[in-house]
Amino acid sequence: MTGTIAFPKPKWLETDKFASTCIIGGQWGDEAKGKIVYTLAEYHDVIMRYNGGPNAGHTLDNITLHQIPSGILYDDKINIMGQGMVIRPDLFCQELEDVKTVKGTVSPHYLVISPKTHVILKYEVAEDLGGAKKMVGTTGKGIGPAYRQRAGRTGIRVIDFADRKELQAKLKKSVDASNAGLPDNEKTKLCDVEKEAEEYGSTLLHYMGDVAAILKKAKQKRKKVLFEGAQGALLDIDNGTYPNVTSSNTTRPSVGQTGYYLPVTMALGVFKAPMSRVGKGPFPSEWGRTNGTNETRHLIEEEKEIMEIMAQKTRDGGTSPLSNGKLTIGRNNLLDALLEKMKNGKATDAEKAAYFGWKGMEFGATTGRARRLGPLDLPLARYVAEINGLDGLVFTKWDVYSGTGDVEFTTKYSYNNLLVHERNVDDLSEFDFLSLDTAVPLFKRLPGWEQDIRGMTDWNQLPKQAKDAINFAEKAIRLPCLYFSTGPKKDEIIARKIK
Ligand code: IMP
Repeated sequence: MTGTIAFPKPKWLETDKFASTCIIGGQWGDEAKGKIVYTLAEYHDVIMRYNGGPNAGHTLDNITLHQIPSGILYDDKINIMGQGMVIRPDLFCQELEDVKTVKGTVSPHYLVISPKTHVILKYEVAEDLGGAKKMVGTTGKGIGPAYRQRAGRTGIRVIDFADRKELQAKLKKSVDASNAGLPDNEKTKLCDVEKEAEEYGSTLLHYMGDVAAILKKAKQKRKKVLFEGAQGALLDIDNGTYPNVTSSNTTRPSVGQTGYYLPVTMALGVFKAPMSRVGKGPFPSEWGRTNGTNETRHLIEEEKEIMEIMAQKTRDGGTSPLSNGKLTIGRNNLLDALLEKMKNGKATDAEKAAYFGWKGMEFGATTGRARRLGPLDLPLARYVAEINGLDGLVFTKWDVYSGTGDVEFTTKYSYNNLLVHERNVDDLSEFDFLSLDTAVPLFKRLPGWEQDIRGMTDWNQLPKQAKDAINFAEKAIRLPCLYFSTGPKKDEIIARKIK
């Protein structure tokens, strides 16, 4: 699968010393990080997932990876599933089969799981599909309960599968902890979990390896390591919009959870525009605000109809047009009508969300939910850049703005409650961030561009309006945009030369 692409080697990797890159989602996940990791992986030797689990979904050329690092699609990269992750064995085995259909075989030399990585078993999935899914709108993959068991010292780690006798006792303790407080008819049976462990344990052990030794060797041999983040900074359990967050740390310090300390040479934050969020929680610049109560965006009537046709098609056993990326039913008419309204400045916020939702296929890669959408929020991006100590920016998805009229940005917030007099804020304080649900966004419109920028690879090809919009965002975030993605394919990207 390795092929050369028209993409220069990043400057910070042009060294015979050790160097590393960390890719961090700058928003609430789904920033199209997978594509960036996949593209940059070309110039790295080791690719490591360091957090999260199957709640992530990195859509690449012809496959969506949820747990296995994106470097697996190359022939010569070592891919690590680190101790900060939680792995779903059943989904891991399924994903492995998907990768094998693309690659043939997957050698344990190129895919290595840390013995300290925790697994998610069926009782944790059952638990997650209960209360948490309703409360936070989780992905329902068992993430929260698995991290809770880890903190409660009742979790199961990959190494535990090596000792079958001991495993039985550990499983019992873990299942009991999960079942406690549940009515009898909702309790998971130990024998079902034992069966699950029996079914998948040997595959996990096949890929288990000494991660610390691999990282140590990578440093000694001056290799290049890429840390592949999952979710986004605003979903971080401590730094995000708590309680509407995931259960792990997703910001830069979580790169420390590798089992062997490695410094980060370049931290890149990925920011999508329009930006999105799935699940509940504040999203100040959301088009057609759902006041943080809604799990998905409000669909306009036409969209509802199309979604219903698609759901029917899936129920009837046909392939869901969502799952293979080919959306055809009724789509063009809807898009044309919405586009006309946008160009005339007549589109409502819900219609803008509908247009960009369908044009940009903004449906969760893991859950299929319609993502909530809004303009790029610059104060929030600046906040994320600060708390992560980012070195550079990657902008994704802006190609969907081509031919749509003005481009909107959120540039300030105003807060107005009983204690604080109304003020416009450029830089958010921690307390501003903590009351994000009361922030009122102020927007700025910049002239858009008519030309379709999809697939461009050269900065000089970009229309002036696109360059101006990028410069405007860079100035507000106070960091340079090093990569500007112009489409979902690996080589649809502009690597910017910054003096
Ligand atoms: P959990 O990670 O499944 O526990 O879900 C907690 C919250 O994080 C929910 O709002 C999810 O929709 C959101 N979330 C988790 N992973 C991702 C992701 O990879 N992209 C976008 N949202 C995510």
